[in-house]
Amino acid sequence: MPRILNAEATETGLAVSFEGVDATAHYPWFWLRDHGEEPASLNPATLQREVDTASLPPDIRARAVRLTDNATALEIEWANGTDHIGRYSADLLHRLRQPDAKPAPEIRLWDRDRIAGEIPCFAYDAVMESDSGLLNWLEAVETYGFGLVEGVPATPEATEKLALCVGYIRSTIFGGFWDFTANMARSDTAYSKQELGAHTDGSYSVDPPGLQMFHCLHFDGNGGESILVDGFKIAEVMRHDRPEDFATLCEVPVPARYLEQGISLAASHPVFRTDTSGRVVQVVFNNYDRAPFRLPDDEMDRFYRALTGFIRLAADPEMQWRHPLRPGTALLFDNWRTLHGRAAYEGQRRLCGCYLNHEDFESRLRVLRRTAGR
Ligand SMILES: [Fe+2]
Repeated sequence: MPRILNAEATETGLAVSFEGVDATAHYPWFWLRDHGEEPASLNPATLQREVDTASLPPDIRARAVRLTDNATALEIEWANGTDHIGRYSADLLHRLRQPDAKPAPEIRLWDRDRIAGEIPCFAYDAVMESDSGLLNWLEAVETYGFGLVEGVPATPEATEKLALCVGYIRSTIFGGFWDFTANMARSDTAYSKQELGAHTDGSYSVDPPGLQMFHCLHFDGNGGESILVDGFKIAEVMRHDRPEDFATLCEVPVPARYLEQGISLAASHPVFRTDTSGRVVQVVFNNYDRAPFRLPDDEMDRFYRALTGFIRLAADPEMQWRHPLRPGTALLFDNWRTLHGRAAYEGQRRLCGCYLNHEDFESRLRVLRRTAGR
């Protein structure tokens, strides 16, 4: 629990220094009034905001400031005729002592050689029987963009139960939890036996599925290795080696579509979606589902140069982890980061799996971390 050393009113806000932190943090008055943690400002049961932000005086100021609770909180007596007393935990102020201080998850970028020595793999019993086992698996998915679970009973029921430990299953045009053998009943190459180049799913969706789970329930043929590629690694290679192409893939919205009798899905996404700090937070790439589109000739040239650079990296064996998925081993991967594909195969294969939303995966991680005291 952080402790406040000193809080001093200035013309524009409050200057606060914390134990163990060199720099003094500064908070504008209006921001402070808007971020009160007292019940009149923040509902203690739901943690929903109660402040009517638009009704606050724009020039609101404090009449008095005092430390409380052994310097782990402070109170502000507001002026401007409101007689309101705001309360602020040192924890809140410490966490938000800088604008946009949003910690990025710790991730490890990988290629074929890097991942070979550290395949994230966990035992089914450990994952199912304890929160810490589940947390270890999900943290690996966050770190590497995928994680395997071994010893899963080779049934759709057991696989679905495993998926439900992560979050609820997302319904799409392919159903909720699916279970299929190769056939072309759907208009999708994923239902064939040909090699599938590395891609992300749902580029035609406004919100591409966050995670995907696969479990091969039966296989009696040859080939069919799963292919995974770290899309964030491709992004960093391009950012470093081909900055202009990287920028193009961050900027150009690429349209995609899924067409079937009675279905016409369409959406556009840049290949690399970045946050306000420039960090790549989502990769969207599926050359099969890319829709026809036209840019001015010079921009189209630039786009094709960047896209083909991306495709060559995704197809480079040195970037790919190839692994035969067999009954008993379930794979969960981050569809916003990890591209997946599959080598061509012969024989019969039965695969089950599902999509999950990214936000539900993130929610489960937060809750498990809080429970574990992290
Ligand atoms: Fe796919």
